[in-house]
Amino acid sequence: MKRSRLYVLTILLVSIGLQLHSQTFKNELILTSDFEDGKMGNWGARGTEKVEVTTEIAKSGKYSLKISERSKTWNGPIHVLTEKPVPEDTYIVTAWIYYKEGPAQSGFVMSVERSFQNEKQDHSYMNVASFQVERGEWTQVSAEYNVPKDPTQKTIWFYFELPYKEDNAVTANDKINFYIDDVRVEKMDPAAKPKIELAIPSLYESMAKWFSVGASVEPEDVEPSTQKAQLMIKHFDTIVAGNAHKMDSVQPKEGQFDWNRADKIIDFAEMTGMRIRWHTLLWHSQVPAWMFQDPKDPNKTVSKDLLNQRLKNHIQTIVRRYKGRVESYDVVNEVLSDNGGFRTGSEGSKWYQILGPEYIENAFRWAREADPNAQLVINDYNLESSVRKRQDMYNLIKDLKQKKVPIDAVGLQMHVSINAPSIQEIRETINLFASLGVNVIITELDVSIYHNPSESKKPITNDILLWQAQRYKDLFNLFKEAANKKQLDTVVVWGLTDDGSWLNNFPVPGRTNAPLLFDKQLKAKPAFWAIVDPKKVPGIKQ
Ligand code: XIL
Repeated sequence: MKRSRLYVLTILLVSIGLQLHSQTFKNELILTSDFEDGKMGNWGARGTEKVEVTTEIAKSGKYSLKISERSKTWNGPIHVLTEKPVPEDTYIVTAWIYYKEGPAQSGFVMSVERSFQNEKQDHSYMNVASFQVERGEWTQVSAEYNVPKDPTQKTIWFYFELPYKEDNAVTANDKINFYIDDVRVEKMDPAAKPKIELAIPSLYESMAKWFSVGASVEPEDVEPSTQKAQLMIKHFDTIVAGNAHKMDSVQPKEGQFDWNRADKIIDFAEMTGMRIRWHTLLWHSQVPAWMFQDPKDPNKTVSKDLLNQRLKNHIQTIVRRYKGRVESYDVVNEVLSDNGGFRTGSEGSKWYQILGPEYIENAFRWAREADPNAQLVINDYNLESSVRKRQDMYNLIKDLKQKKVPIDAVGLQMHVSINAPSIQEIRETINLFASLGVNVIITELDVSIYHNPSESKKPITNDILLWQAQRYKDLFNLFKEAANKKQLDTVVVWGLTDDGSWLNNFPVPGRTNAPLLFDKQLKAKPAFWAIVDPKKVPGIKQ
């Protein structure tokens, strides 16, 4: 049958129409709370704090919700998100937060609580997003929450709180009154959810001749069959936990190891055949408070002997459990000072303060005892930009090697900027450590679009993304050169997508960064193309 022109045209128009239609997404509005009816609706308190509607201040209209008489960091307003959770639904919560008395700025956190069909099961709590709010300024915060794939969950609530501290560490700054207003919750149109680009080259396959490429993830990123997990599988062959393998996550209470979050990442890696790096067995940050407390009196500092026992137990429990499975461990992280020598107590290291510098060699020896074959790494930052810190690291590794301490590699975190340090400085750093006979690993690569830590927020323009692309290209050229010299075999980026980067709101609150290879839509950025197929990026220099 010969098709009439009209028929063809109709088909054409219908299909254009369908395409247009499929691009107009409709989020479902779940909740708006502006409190203008003078009532608090279904908002409630999490503890004994007071939650009430007030006319003291408002973002819009006359009313807001006031939270006062807070005694714990987690005291704050809570509301049901859904009583019928559907796995993989995405909720978008926006709200305004204000406080008038307290520190010049304060962190706030939006978290979710989940109950389960089995009423006896403990509720689960998760921090979804953190924000910085300045005193006396209404600040808009927003967060996206993906409902986990868990058929046993029942009700999900969302709430606002301050960053968690144990009760005995809470100060006046953690107990401030605050206000929320104009809260809006939407459920994202499933058609609007970003999908990974299937028809592009794989990053790790493109680099396979030279080195493995890894990324840091949170357990939520690797829920099997989610798009982020697919992104991870397509482009990376090494995995590291952004937070889930740190001390406070793995051993929140003395002797009670919680493998739940840790294993989500390990299991995913084993299922998909990725190499696993562990970050980190020891750090001065993200350590649970009990670690340094005397068991009889939390106000007293733990004895040297007991702290050594605790450290050995922490290290060996982990390394024994994952023997033969985790290939490489950041045994110690950031043990050097920016001002020369070891990081001291006044720079946050209770390890150094209580144990003295020997804790470093002990940590390596204990790790080796538990797994004779794992790669043991000392990890730090700014070794490229600070000649002094670089030299300190050189001397330390040399000294450790002389003492026969089992150390295999140095990790260069490589949190660099678009403009510095220079490729030559990085090359000299890699050469210097390689000359000691240790491997070099790039452990936490990201390229900030800001020139220095304090630069204020700026728009992320195409020009900046192209500049960043050139920078990534130059860095990867150098890594290939080092790989060709057998100095390096692994490059890990610190995060999957720009929106999840630790450099958002840090170190400047309210500042957005875009330091990674993929954007929020899971789309490859110019930086990705510059390293994988530079022809695709206008003006890139080889
Ligand atoms: C960061 C994480 O990415 C953040 O989510 C967390 O809030 C703080 O720690 N150097 C390191 C990493 O060794 O552990 C840090 O990770 C980033 C700097």
